[in-house]
Amino acid sequence: MDRLRIALTKGRLEKKSVEMFESMGFNCEELKIPSRKLLFDIVKDELTLETVLAKAPDVITYVERGVCDLGIVGKDTIMEQGRSFYEVMDLGFGKCRFALAVRKGDEFYAGTYKNRVIGTKYPEVTKNYFAKKGMDVDIVKIEGSVELAPILGLADGIVDIVETGTTLKENGLEVIETIAPISARLIVNLASMKMKKQAILSLINDCADYLEKEASK
Ligand code: PRP
Repeated sequence: MDRLRIALTKGRLEKKSVEMFESMGFNCEELKIPSRKLLFDIVKDELTLETVLAKAPDVITYVERGVCDLGIVGKDTIMEQGRSFYEVMDLGFGKCRFALAVRKGDEFYAGTYKNRVIGTKYPEVTKNYFAKKGMDVDIVKIEGSVELAPILGLADGIVDIVETGTTLKENGLEVIETIAPISARLIVNLASMKMKKQAILSLINDCADYLEKEASK
């Protein structure tokens, strides 16, 4: 019996991850019952997957540090803080994008010698984006409801995740640039990839089959 430990991102990606494992043949009944439990074993044939529910940045920490062999996490978190792991697969769900948004009608680039102020939960992504443009900006880290920053006059713009666009619209903001597409990724610990190669490759194969099935729907 093989055993792998995988960290799943709680919240938005959780349901889709569970759906994927279920369609791959794992018994996920316990995972689907709402509870405060954070660890679950799901089983399929000769493989037990010990699933761990964690916040996105922690999924990366657990995989980097090797206490989890694999993880499912958004490309947004990977772009913000990811370094040493294998990003083996785009799982296709959790699709959204990073965008630069301003108050409707604002001319972000017009006039003024002063640095633009950007509110964001993603300072690294923001820094890299404007560095590529050769533009100095002042970045203010905001923990949530980032849309408030330009409304309150704290920032000239925000770099944030846009999925449906509803949050921007309802708060009088608009996208002026798309920065990068985002979706859920399967990541693997560097050492686990060597030590547990067969079990991991077989799981990756099953994920690939799942993606094919989804694509043909
Ligand atoms: C994210 C993001 C936007 C919203 C975008 O916030 O920061 O606020 O979702 O989604 P939409 O385009 O479908 O409206 P999240 O719900 O993760 O919470 P937060 O405001 O605490 O960051």
